[in-house]
Amino acid sequence: MKLGIIGTNWITEQFISAAEATGKFELTSIYSRTKEKAQAFGQKFTHVSECFSDLTEFFTKGSFEVVYIASPNSLHFEQTLQAIEAGKHIIVEKPMCSNPFEMKQLLEKLHKHPEIYCFEAARHLHEPNFKTIKAQIKQLPVIQGANLTYEKYSSRYDQFLAGEEPNVFSLSYSGGALQDLGVYLVYDAIAWFGIPQSSHYYPVKLRNGIDGAGTAILEYPDFNVVLNMGKTANSELPGEIYGLKETIRMDNAAELQKVELVDATGNVTMLSVDPAQNPMLAEAEAFAAVLSETDSLENKQLQQDWLAYAVEVNKVLYELRQSAGIKFLADEPYVDR
Ligand SMILES: NC(=O)c1ccc[n+]([C@@H]2O[C@H](COP(=O)([O-])OP(=O)(O)OC[C@H]3O[C@@H](n4cnc5c(N)ncnc54)[C@H](OP(=O)(O)O)[C@@H]3O)[C@@H](O)[C@H]2O)c1
Repeated sequence: MKLGIIGTNWITEQFISAAEATGKFELTSIYSRTKEKAQAFGQKFTHVSECFSDLTEFFTKGSFEVVYIASPNSLHFEQTLQAIEAGKHIIVEKPMCSNPFEMKQLLEKLHKHPEIYCFEAARHLHEPNFKTIKAQIKQLPVIQGANLTYEKYSSRYDQFLAGEEPNVFSLSYSGGALQDLGVYLVYDAIAWFGIPQSSHYYPVKLRNGIDGAGTAILEYPDFNVVLNMGKTANSELPGEIYGLKETIRMDNAAELQKVELVDATGNVTMLSVDPAQNPMLAEAEAFAAVLSETDSLENKQLQQDWLAYAVEVNKVLYELRQSAGIKFLADEPYVDR
């Protein structure tokens, strides 16, 4: 499949490398805000045949079949709509939309174009260790709660401290710790425990009102799930899921490189397999498999299931933001500021 890309940062290179490693994708088409940057980026890959600096032209004239969107968060929604209109399949970086109002419009558009497949690139959802945890939770006699952490110092925080406002620390670009790293933890919670009955976010806000870090509490009927996220410090805290006397322990709840079961007697069993060298390989393989056979009902269902997760994650992210009074520019057309 011919692949087009939007965004020329390191994450795009990592995804292309994973996508090409599946043997199913070839990067052919590049959009960047400047042609020079698109061409310079294209020189790193062998099959690139077209570079664009006009987004409409990219979509209307580009020969690619699948687009990978890795632009700042606030642009995902409009670019995904454009891609659907242009008849391209979509792999869009997390988070797919800034709020449920955008998500609703996107779903309506997809409903009118059932031939288009649209995936949110929630990397860890497709990894074997993620699935192992889900299966192991089913074996627990009860669930008494979980503490999940993903806190990594962002190189962009240096820029923020120097007085700049990089996209990932901007309300105008739908940034912040919750949208950027918390999204993985909300995926964990929803895929492993289901939809919470209520949720609350306690952010540490930076000078412009964006959340640099924060703690979310998701309430379930019989237990709570605590999510710790942040981009202004490094946490070494493991994640834990509590059964009765047993605990599932993981390194951090987004990268999932090491997962262990500590049983009722304290014995430790390693549950994880070594992750792939490229952390985006599992998702690239999953998307490639589905896109290779779009007529298959099973594949259609898989795509719908993944989309259903994206919708629920989007709702919870919004509820958490609302609880903390974090308003994005992207919310303005839909709610009073
Ligand atoms: N899955 C993962 O592990 C992972 C890791 C990192 C990031 N991400 C996701 O990938 C996406 C991109 O993140 P990032 O950190 O790479 O973002 P970024 O550097 O702020 O922007 C990404 C690209 O978008 C273009 N861009 C930058 N500012 C723009 C603006 N103001 N208007 C229009 N285009 C602009 C740039 O490409 P051009 O200059 O070529 O136009 C840039 O390379 C985000 O959604 C993020 O959540 C995912």
